[in-house]
Amino acid sequence: MTTTPTATDDRTTRPAADPTSIGFEDAVAIAAGLPLRDKVALLTGAGTWTLTALPQLGLRTMTVSDGPIGVRGTGEDGLPSAQMPAPSAAAATWDADVQARLGRLMAAEARRKGVDVVLAPVVNLQRSPVGGRHFECLSEDPLLTGRLAVAFIDALQEQGVAGCVKHFIGNETETDRTEYLSRIDERTLREVYLAPFEAVIDAGVWTIMAAYNGLIRDGVAETATAHEPLLTGLLKGELGFDGVVISDWLATKHTAESANAGLDLVMPGPLGPWGDALVAAVEAGDVAESVIDDKVARIVRLAERVGALSGLAGEVLPYDSTGANDDPASAEVVALLTETAARGTVVLRNDGGLLPVEPTGAAAPTRIALIGHNAVEPFTQGGGSAFVTTPHVSDPLDALRAAYPGAEVTRHRGGAATVKAPLVASDRLSAPEGDRGIRVDGLDEAGEIVESSLLADAEALWFPVEDPRVASVRIAVDVDLREAGTHVLEFGPVGAHRVVVDGVVLGTSDHHVGPEVILNSSYASPEMLVSDVEVDEPRSVRLEADLQVIDGESYGRFVRAHFRHRVPGPTLDEEIGLAVAAAADADLAVVVIGTNPETESEGWDRPTLALPGRQDELVRRVAAANPRTVVVVNAGAPVILPWLDEVPAVLWWWLPGQEAGASLAAVLTGEIEPSGRLPWTLPASEADVPVPNGLPVDGVIDYAEGVHVGHRGWDRLDRTPAREFGYGLGYAEWEYRGLAVERGAGASDAPETSDAFVTVQVAVANVGSRPGREVVQAYLSEDDAWADRPVRWLAGFALVDVAAGGEATVTLHVARRAFEVWDVDRSDWVLPRGTYTLRVGRSSRDLRLATSVAVEDE
Ligand code: BGC
Repeated sequence: MTTTPTATDDRTTRPAADPTSIGFEDAVAIAAGLPLRDKVALLTGAGTWTLTALPQLGLRTMTVSDGPIGVRGTGEDGLPSAQMPAPSAAAATWDADVQARLGRLMAAEARRKGVDVVLAPVVNLQRSPVGGRHFECLSEDPLLTGRLAVAFIDALQEQGVAGCVKHFIGNETETDRTEYLSRIDERTLREVYLAPFEAVIDAGVWTIMAAYNGLIRDGVAETATAHEPLLTGLLKGELGFDGVVISDWLATKHTAESANAGLDLVMPGPLGPWGDALVAAVEAGDVAESVIDDKVARIVRLAERVGALSGLAGEVLPYDSTGANDDPASAEVVALLTETAARGTVVLRNDGGLLPVEPTGAAAPTRIALIGHNAVEPFTQGGGSAFVTTPHVSDPLDALRAAYPGAEVTRHRGGAATVKAPLVASDRLSAPEGDRGIRVDGLDEAGEIVESSLLADAEALWFPVEDPRVASVRIAVDVDLREAGTHVLEFGPVGAHRVVVDGVVLGTSDHHVGPEVILNSSYASPEMLVSDVEVDEPRSVRLEADLQVIDGESYGRFVRAHFRHRVPGPTLDEEIGLAVAAAADADLAVVVIGTNPETESEGWDRPTLALPGRQDELVRRVAAANPRTVVVVNAGAPVILPWLDEVPAVLWWWLPGQEAGASLAAVLTGEIEPSGRLPWTLPASEADVPVPNGLPVDGVIDYAEGVHVGHRGWDRLDRTPAREFGYGLGYAEWEYRGLAVERGAGASDAPETSDAFVTVQVAVANVGSRPGREVVQAYLSEDDAWADRPVRWLAGFALVDVAAGGEATVTLHVARRAFEVWDVDRSDWVLPRGTYTLRVGRSSRDLRLATSVAVEDE
């Protein structure tokens, strides 16, 4: 074990701006001499997304932003952000180069938005398919996750923008996420959950986020932000992390304990458990001032790295936007995001080579029926803190019409897959005085009106309340109901409320809520109050609501309500019938099904893996009506596809980001090969899933399956999934023709070096009729397995592009670490001697060639 690096070790990457000005060492020395109060002020955010400035050091405010789907920024500029395919979609490319390109785009977006630290990547693993943030994670596999995250971090930080790898550690579940303790045995921690963090730390990540949950490890049960053996012992000590440990938002519950444990920065601010309380703790001798100095020095180092330290005492330089992306919808951005979403798409089935469907030639379609809730409303990103406002969403209908100019393309929803109605249309809303919009009166404690305003639409029913006198708000709006029939109005207030429709009380509650509604994301899905309104003649209804102002602490004071409206229309049965008839009438049916914002989000785990609504029925009936049916699954995390092997073609299209339609068209036509491979296992039935949920029991989540996470668990239990880890057909056909293995020195753990422990050469041939990309995967197993090792584990992978009829040899480097096991008694990595089998192939269960690797005494 090495000693804890203190932040005065000079390992900065940027030289001081000017040799005559103060540099990092001087800044640290000056900082140490500052009054305690100034130093402590630096250790809590200045706001929700900003850090405190220290002009004495020429240190400007640094800005942080989520990550990992785009760079949202502080939200103050009102500008949209490039919305990337969700991390699991990009991970399905298995392509480090794609990660690097996304990292560079993130950096350029950060520059445009004035951001210094991007809160990404998420390297928690997809331990259970129901995990709410599954879509935000890269993979269920530690090696794949680590490799991709490193490529992303390298590219991001090369541009001078910090990454923040999160959430450290054991944060694989959303349920009660601020309360539970994860119990992970030491070997599992080292070999599985720590591994991707370790890879990213070795790559030099500048910040890390301590999770909401706690960890039981080595007899210490403590919340992650106050876990001394975890933060100081392991992270800063053993792993030599020299950056800043940032708390997840509102995660820190302790003062001296978290400061002494190794947390460096409490977010958000300016409130929180440090501030005056930490000054008092230092004065009382509960926290040494040197502990504070170390944190300050780490923040100064971060500032140096991102260019926030002018090096001129007293002079704070403005943010340098050099290298900013000008336009989140530029041709270059569109091309990268289209390619990523298309490349990540996984071909799960392609019976008779239905795909791709060429737009010209004998088999070109002339009538295409585009069907499904998600064809009308593509689900492009999951819910929660990663959410960004897009510049546009490429519409599947427009994209298919452009891609198939010779075809008539029609769209049919086939029934809603959501429970809730759509947002009420803004052109139906008017304030009681007749102005367009929703009237809002801010009321003081006595119920007197303090201020009034108009909101343009239902989306605006989420607004900050700056005036401290305003204790509640009253909204009033008339909704224009033009169509005869039953209209459904849905109103979802967050917190205490009284809601009245046309003078009749729809619901009341005295239950006042606080910042917990942000942490558990319930502000995004409150219970809806529903009112059915019968309409014979066009008329309006008046909705009035008294709503609580929520004090979100460092998130600020705000009001939130959801307002939805369902217009009378065809029933679900009727809509499904119309879609099936359209499919029967077409020569190609494309059915886009999947999850939606009600299903996949931060803040909650999914109760089921079933597709929402009657989408299974829709797929079966459309496929029965049209033999050329392509099913497109628009979901981030696994859903059960009971008809998977009964329909001709199935694509897993992920949460594809803003270029949704363009990527779908590119995949269907074959313009871009969908060369994605599943970065997780797709279950055939819910009952088979090795870790069906991650629900805490008495506040503890026991990682009882140990190192057998994801595909390793399926192999150990010998269960057959619908599609295994690593699966993906692409549009080419492959033969594996040669495998050679060479032992190297292997001194380094780095996988890409020529002194890799084992270098593997694989000859593959594309025997199909189209050029293709193969993801060559290498798995290891130990012949006389030692210590509960997995049946097999991923040891390396490489991508290769081969022309139709061509052959290529691809080289894979397998690191020594891939062979090693954590020895709990020796507290060290050991290399078990013996014979290993190295298999290469197309997925974790389609392994084409094998060879032995002998590991002897060294
Ligand atoms: C999430 C983090 C996120 C932070 C700031 C938290 O609730 O867990 O991933 O970075 O909010 O939005």
